[in-house]
Amino acid sequence: MKLVIGIGGASGMPYARRLIDVLASLDPLPDVRIVFSKTARGIWAQEVGTDPRELPFPVHGHRDFGAPFASGSAGYRTMIVVPASVGGLARIAHGISDDLLSRAADVVIKERGKLILVPRETPFSEIHLENMLKLARLGATIVPACPSFYSGPRTIDELVDTLVARLLDRLSVPNDLMPRWGATPHHARLEAPPEEWS
Ligand SMILES: Cc1cc2nc3c(=O)[nH]c(=O)nc-3n(C[C@H](O)[C@H](O)[C@H](O)COP(=O)(O)O)c2cc1C
Repeated sequence: MKLVIGIGGASGMPYARRLIDVLASLDPLPDVRIVFSKTARGIWAQEVGTDPRELPFPVHGHRDFGAPFASGSAGYRTMIVVPASVGGLARIAHGISDDLLSRAADVVIKERGKLILVPRETPFSEIHLENMLKLARLGATIVPACPSFYSGPRTIDELVDTLVARLLDRLSVPNDLMPRWGATPHHARLEAPPEEWS
């Protein structure tokens, strides 16, 4: 797998951290490159706190247009932007490749590769929704940073995993980060709603 992870300037850095850790545990090790937006580094410091230089994959500077994945010829056809800011989505939707993250996404779109975007904002404005619709029509997959509760997560880490599991599914990485629907006691409970509900 040749994968670019773009880390945009939105809240939700623990999702990126967990995804990177899971990918780093795979054997064989995938070819992963990481790029932060300029704002993302500060948010990472606030929400994760570790030094990005200690990440297990190469981290490229936000203006490093010489990075391999800035060109289609290097063969990186899969990119995930997690978390994605709505400002970043706007730039990607309009082909404004003014930093390495948006350039890399532009390359994946032009090469008709797999682009997975994980926006985090609330509420969404019409501008945000229009940009997401445009990107979805261009072939991107929009996976909003919405963790779920139906598997019964009890800690923040488990809640994070409910989203990261979905991201790994999109990347075709087998995982059991959260119980699958149908394999949990919650499923059984929902199949038989209490009588007082009717
Ligand atoms: C602490 C902090 C949190 C932010 N959280 C969000 C967010 O959750 N979603 C969002 O769309 N923008 C958020 N922003 C604003 C973006 O970082 C800003 O609009 C930036 O220009 C987006 O571009 P980038 O993704 O290329 O960094 C946040 C900014 C800061 C400083």
